[in-house]
This record gives sequence, structure tokens and C-alpha cells, in this order.
Amino acid sequence: MEYRDKLVLAPMVRVGTLPFRLLAAEYGADITYGEEIIDHKLVKCERKVNEYIGCTDFVEKGTDLVVFRTCPLEKSQVVFQIGTSDAVRALTAAQLVCKDVAAIDINMGCPKSFSISGGMGAALLSKPELIHDILTTLKRNLDIPITCKIRLLKSSQDTVELARRIEKTGVSALAVHGRRVADRPRDPAKWSEIANVVSSLSIPVIANGDVFEYDDFKRIKVATGASSVMVARGALWNASIFSPEGKLHWEEVKREYVRKSILWDNDVKSTKHTLKEMIMHYSSLELPEGKGVIKSENLADIAKLYGEEKYYKLVNANRSFVNGSTENSLSCQSNSLLT
Ligand SMILES: Cc1cc2nc3c(=O)[nH]c(=O)nc-3n(C[C@H](O)[C@H](O)[C@H](O)COP(=O)(O)O)c2cc1C
Repeated sequence: MEYRDKLVLAPMVRVGTLPFRLLAAEYGADITYGEEIIDHKLVKCERKVNEYIGCTDFVEKGTDLVVFRTCPLEKSQVVFQIGTSDAVRALTAAQLVCKDVAAIDINMGCPKSFSISGGMGAALLSKPELIHDILTTLKRNLDIPITCKIRLLKSSQDTVELARRIEKTGVSALAVHGRRVADRPRDPAKWSEIANVVSSLSIPVIANGDVFEYDDFKRIKVATGASSVMVARGALWNASIFSPEGKLHWEEVKREYVRKSILWDNDVKSTKHTLKEMIMHYSSLELPEGKGVIKSENLADIAKLYGEEKYYKLVNANRSFVNGSTENSLSCQSNSLLT
């Protein structure tokens, strides 16, 4: 995979599942990161081709819990992000999914206590030897690109020093979220400190932080010198941010997201969480729509709330048809329902 001059959907827990990634890609994202998945969780999974939906699932053994769902449509652009504190476990996890994804990324920026207490996420930033061990182990054993995503360290000099060490491991690119571990999302991202990393490395740097409009892609590239740009909240609130023609109305984007959630049988918790984030940004959860999302127990409820019962029925009818037919490839069927 090529990392220069790309628009990138950031990893987002509970949001970055298959329908959201495909939605972002449809609007123009070149690379789409999945939500962080912890290695401990993935190593308990088995790979299952899901002919019913037309996708590939990684399902926790002995249960029907889908930990990661992907499909051939996104294979060339989806990045699987792992949360880890151990090179061997990270490799075991990566080996399970590496044939189905375009690249593997290691999360070195998560400031949440569950990550830090497990020695994962931002806890890695103070352990350069462990970073080296994890990244070189993955590099040596896998033949797809390996990357990682970091936050800024206490001083810009420290960040540059760490970035140089990371570059030496042979990673294909480095994503830099322009905030320190203690910064809150409302604190402005420090694009100038990302620029210091860009000018010190020769691998592609993916600049991340405070991109909310299509024009910001250009602004952050100019300010940082980075060749690629990653966006999280701007895409969560309106995934059409990637479209050069300008953003669509959020209601339209939301409708498309609901349809894709139905089409790919998304985990209803993920769909609800994503819809709630959109509603909180543009409206209020106190209004009937928000209350309806909160009350929804399954995708049928969501379909009803958004007037998509017919689509819901059509998708499910089509699935039973395909299930009974060996001649039809289900992903083709799914494709034809995408619009
Ligand atoms: C809902 C949400 C979930 C996130 N989950 C992850 C994650 O799984 N892995 C990760 O590296 N960063 C995660 N982040 C951080 C984003 O990827 C990104 O670095 C951060 O939000 C800054 O980008 P932004 O200013 O465009 O929002 C998450 C952010 C949000 C808002």
C-alpha cells in the first residue's frame, strides 16, 4: 500500500466498523483504519467466511461474538489497528488477519486507563525498546505494511527522537496525532510539532488532529509538510468530509450509514454509538430521534426509526435467496444493494 498523498479515516473505537469504513471510502477516503482491537481479544478468535452477509468474520471461539468484520471490497485499503504490549502476542494476532487487510497498525497513542494499565497505547511511548521489539517482530514476519500511530511527547525534541527510532524499525509510515497524552480533545492539535517530525523523517508521516473541513486537508499539509492526513471526529460527524465536492447534509450521510449498517449486519451497539455521536453533534439526544436511537434494541428497530423497513426487508430477503443459491456470489449481491 502506498502512503503518500492519502486521505485517511482514523481508527475510532466502536465507530470504525465495516459500514462506516465503506461509507468513508465511498466519499473519498483512500485508507480506512478499523477500530483498535486488543491482541488478547483477537487471539481468541477464528476466521470464518460469512457467506450469508458476504464478508469475513473473526469470531471469538465458542461464541458468536464478531470481533472484526471485513469484506473483499475494502481489502486494498483497510488497516487493522492492534492494541498490544507484547511483540509475540501482537504477531499472533496480526497473523490471523493479515491475509484479509491491507496493513497492520499499532496503537501507541491511546491515553485511556485500560490501555495504559495494560502497558498498551500511550504506555508504549515511554518504552522505545518494546516499540522496537513489536515493530521489528511484525516487520520480519509479515509481508504487508506495518505502521504505528503516536501522540506527541513532552518536548518536540523527544517526539522527533522517538519518531526517528520508529523509522529505523522499517515501518512504512508513521501517523502522528498532534496532541500530548494529557491533552483533551478540545485542546488544539499542535501542527507545528507534527511538522518537526515530518522534516526529520523520510518515510511518509500521516498528520492527525483538528481536520473538520475538506479545506483543512490542504491547510494541515501545508502547515506540517505531511504527505497524508488522517481525520477522526470530522469524519465521525460527517463522513462526506472526504468528498472534494464538499460535504453532504448530515441527514443524508446518516441515512446512508443506516443503510450500510443494515446491509452489513453491523453490531447494533456500534451503529447506535455512531448515530448518537452524530446526533449529539448536530442536534440533541433529548429529541425524539435521539431517544429512539437509545431505545433501539436491534437493527430492525433502527430501520423502523429511520423509515428503512423496506430496505431492511429487501436485504434480508436477498440474503435468504443467496443463501439458497450456490451460483450467486453474495458479495456481488451486497454490491448491488450498496446504492
Ligand atoms: C470516538 C473516537 C474513538 C477513537 N478510537 C481510537 C482508536 O481506536 N485508536 C486510535 O489510535 N485512536 C482513536 N481515537 C483517536 C483518533 O484516531 C484521533 O487520533 C483523534 O481523535 C484526533 O483526531 P481528530 O482531531 O481528527 O479527532 C479515537 C477518537 C474518537 C473521537
